[in-house]
Amino acid sequence: MLLEQLQIADFRNLHAVNVRPSPHATVVVGANGQGKTSLLEAVYFLCTLRPLRANRLSELVRFGTEQATVAGRFTLGGAEREISVQVAAGLRQAFVDGKKAAKLEDYFGGVSVVAFTPDDLAVVKGGPEVRRAFLDRAVFNRFPAYLREHRAYQRALKSRNRLLKEHAPASYVEAYDEAVARTGARVLVRRRELLDELGPRAVSAVRAISQLPDVGVGYTALHLGAHHPQTEEGLEQALLHALVERLDRDRDRGFTSVGPHADDLQLTLGGRSARAYASQGQGRALVLGWKIAEIENVRAAFGRPPLLLLDDVSSELDPERNAFLMHTVAESRAQVLLTTTDASLVARAAGPDTLWLRVEAGEISEDARLRPARTA
Ligand SMILES: Nc1ncnc2c1ncn2[C@@H]1O[C@H](COP(=O)(O)OP(=O)(O)O)[C@@H](O)[C@H]1O
Ligand SMILES: [Mg+2]
Repeated sequence: MLLEQLQIADFRNLHAVNVRPSPHATVVVGANGQGKTSLLEAVYFLCTLRPLRANRLSELVRFGTEQATVAGRFTLGGAEREISVQVAAGLRQAFVDGKKAAKLEDYFGGVSVVAFTPDDLAVVKGGPEVRRAFLDRAVFNRFPAYLREHRAYQRALKSRNRLLKEHAPASYVEAYDEAVARTGARVLVRRRELLDELGPRAVSAVRAISQLPDVGVGYTALHLGAHHPQTEEGLEQALLHALVERLDRDRDRGFTSVGPHADDLQLTLGGRSARAYASQGQGRALVLGWKIAEIENVRAAFGRPPLLLLDDVSSELDPERNAFLMHTVAESRAQVLLTTTDASLVARAAGPDTLWLRVEAGEISEDARLRPARTA
């Protein structure tokens, strides 16, 4: 999979961008606030149809304009295709080869992307919602159908929560239990499938970059008990049971207290919660190991590496770990878009075919002078 051409119009502070990325590294250099993250965010949005950091789609549209557009021409298994996405009036519309995408699976059609941002580095110490989003991003990358499945769960949950908030009679609330349990079990199964694949890879990647003791990657399903079932049907029954059991409590509190929206990704060091005990450096090593595992996992599943988006992470990592990451990126032969304030930090991932871009106040221009002397 190669991103051959990228066009952006009125996305965040980017007015009009048209670039042909390198098949390997494209480095985007700029001072803070110039549009580096916006550029990666545009590519991430194009590839996943999900925002990387926005809470509302309308945030993505450049101030004073009506519509944001991102379009990419890819070659995939010898065939060319163009996908594009527009945001207007808070809504998103996806296109494949210029026609409205009927099914999201057609839209994705083998495009996969792994993003790594400074926000990820804080995931270990953050709240459960941050870790769930982090986990789900890996699930979306691995299983494109998850976008639809996850949304089905969100819809069922929202309906049930609305009734709880309005103090509706118990029987009204219960009418949604089946849908919440069915769609919730699907989400649980996807997360587990991903963790089964990725967990062992993450553990060995962390071992390769640090001397951390006994890294553990697990999942806490809240209120389902320690020995929750393995099959999707079993999970559905267990969720249904828990919903019924907690109905009175949920009606008191006005929200649904059990289900994948309440769960947590469990990261441990030496058997102890990394959130509680890991140092900042240890936490970062864990996340770096996870991201490297994600790259390997996508490659193992699809037979090709994902498109990598590394947003200004080199300045956040210590020199040794940054060197490891740059080495991994170069070895993977993956197509990668890296942003940085300092080109020398990413020099190791660059090669003769690297495209050097400068971003200034939302304008992107090619600038070969950015190439650090020792890779010239
Ligand atoms: N919808 C928007 N329209 C215009 N500018 C925006 C929008 N959203 C964010 N910005 C601005 O875009 C600029 C670039 O942001 P960002 O890409 O995060 O910078 P960088 O990553 O280079 O530090 C910031 O000044 C930000 O305030
Ligand atoms: Mg940024």
